[in-house]
Amino acid sequence: MRRPAVPAVALAGALALAGCGGSDSAAADLSVAASYMPQPVSADMAAGFLTITNEGGTKDELTSVTSDAAGEVTMHDTVNGAMEEVTSFPVPAHGRLVFKSGGNHLMFEKLKRKPRQGDTIALRLTFAKSGPLTVEMPVKSATYNPSTGH
Ligand code: CU
Repeated sequence: MRRPAVPAVALAGALALAGCGGSDSAAADLSVAASYMPQPVSADMAAGFLTITNEGGTKDELTSVTSDAAGEVTMHDTVNGAMEEVTSFPVPAHGRLVFKSGGNHLMFEKLKRKPRQGDTIALRLTFAKSGPLTVEMPVKSATYNPSTGH
């Protein structure tokens, strides 16, 4: 009788686990970078973008965003050019959650006042597992492009 072959999936999983190692595999390890808000046209609504990096071996979930500058902050994704509100975003283990123009974005509504270039908007990100993170989001020009820095 032939021995059953070891499934390739099991092998790959074992290798991935071995590669993780150490304490970082026990929890999500989140940090935020590249946050910005393009100066909005009016005080009605503004968009915000950032990247959340997870160096840990456990996935997490962004479950809410709040800011003193806005009455409400909602999370949106973009599907076939149309945005829709979502209640959470996954942050994969050893991965990133990216908010960028034309894709996932934060929507600031009921702004206390119109954000102007040079201002900083304070945000608080809440996650399913990790503790909350605070972000100082700079307000950039209305046409700011993160890849050129202008
Ligand atoms: Cu939106």
